[in-house]
Amino acid sequence: MTSELPFTRTPHPHPATPERVAEVLAKPGFGQHFTDHMVTIRWNREQGWHDAEVGPYSPLALDPAAMVLHYGQAIFEGLKAYRQPDGSIASFRPAANAERFRLSARRMAMPELPDELFLSSVRQLLAVDSRWVPSAEEESLYLRPFMISTEKGLGVRPASEYLYVLIASPAGSYFSGGIRPVSVWLSTEYVRAAPGGTGAAKFAGNYAASLVAQAQAADKGCDQVVWLDAVERRWVEEMGGMNLFFVFGDKVVTPELTGTLLPGITRSSLLQLASDLGLTVEERRISTDEWEKASASGELTEVFACGTAAVITPVGHVKHAGGEFDIAGGATGPVTMKLRERLTGLQHGHAADDHGWMTKL
Ligand code: PLP
Ligand code: COI
Repeated sequence: MTSELPFTRTPHPHPATPERVAEVLAKPGFGQHFTDHMVTIRWNREQGWHDAEVGPYSPLALDPAAMVLHYGQAIFEGLKAYRQPDGSIASFRPAANAERFRLSARRMAMPELPDELFLSSVRQLLAVDSRWVPSAEEESLYLRPFMISTEKGLGVRPASEYLYVLIASPAGSYFSGGIRPVSVWLSTEYVRAAPGGTGAAKFAGNYAASLVAQAQAADKGCDQVVWLDAVERRWVEEMGGMNLFFVFGDKVVTPELTGTLLPGITRSSLLQLASDLGLTVEERRISTDEWEKASASGELTEVFACGTAAVITPVGHVKHAGGEFDIAGGATGPVTMKLRERLTGLQHGHAADDHGWMTKL
C-alpha cells in the first residue's frame, strides 16, 4: 500500500463560467454550491488504495446493496482553504484533519487513508479549482473529505471495498446573520454519545442521531442543541458541530476530552491562542449547574462555541427543561472577539503564524 499514488486528471467538460463563479462567490452561503471537480480514491482488500482520480464533480453510482446504505460505515472531515493577501492559498492544520480522519476510520473498522494521500487529494483538487477560493474576509473554500463502504452485500461486517471522495464548497458565514450570539437548548432527553461509543469519531451516524434533538431545540425556540454526558446528564460535552468554551474573566475552560466528544482542531488551537494571550486555560468537566450558577453570579463572563464551519460563535442564552438564563446579558464578550480576531487573522494571513499552522497549497 503506497501513499504516493499517481492521480489521473479528467477536466470538467463544461466548467462553470467565470460569471457563474463570480455570482456564487458574491454570496456563497454554506454548503450550497460546489466546485467543478472532485477527487475519488478507491480501496479494496486486494489492491489497497488505488485509482486516484481528479474528475468532474458528478453523482456517484452505488449498488443498492452497497453496505453504507444499510449499515452506515461513513466518516467525514471538514477543513478550509483560505485566500492569502498575496493571492496564494493556504489551509489551516490540514495534517490534523488527516490524522483525525484516520482515527475515525479506525473506530469504524474502515481502512486508514495515509496522511500524505489525504494531503495530496487536497492539493490536487486545489490545483484545478483554485478560482473557487473566495477572497472576501470571513470567506473560504470549505473542503469536505469523506469515505463510505461500497461493497455489495447485506452481511453485517466491515466491508472489503471503500470509496474516498473530496468535494469543495465556497463558504461564507455558517449561521445566517453573521456573528450574533446564539441560544442553546440543553438536551437531557436525547444524548449524542455514550462511553465506548462513536462520539470522538467524525462518523456520519452521530449527525443523523443528533437531528431529532436539534429539531427539539428549534421547537423550544433555540438555535442549537448542547449535548450532556450520557450517564449523569449534567456534564457539558459540546454543541451540534462545535466545541464549547467558558470564560471566567481571564480564565478559559473547555470540557475535557472524555472520548464522547469530538476533539476539535479549532478547540485545540484556541487553547494555544488563549494561552498565548496570557489567559489561564483549563480542560475539565463543567456541569450545567455550574454554568447556571456562575452566569447568575456574574463569574462566568462569556461562552462561545467553535469549529471549522462556524469559526467562533458566541452563546448568549440557555434554555433547559427547568428554566432559562442569559450569559452576561446575552452580549458578545471581549475574549470571544479577541480570540476570533486572532484565529481568523492568522487563517487569512493577516497575523503572524507563530505555530506554523498554515500550509500552502
Ligand atoms: N464537534 C462536532 C460534533 C463537530 O462536528 C465539529 C466540527 O468539525 C467540532 C466539534 C469542531 O471541530 P473542528 O474544530 O475540528 O472543526
Ligand atoms: C465542521 O465544522 O467542519 C463541521 O463538520 C461541522 C458541521 C458542518 C457538521
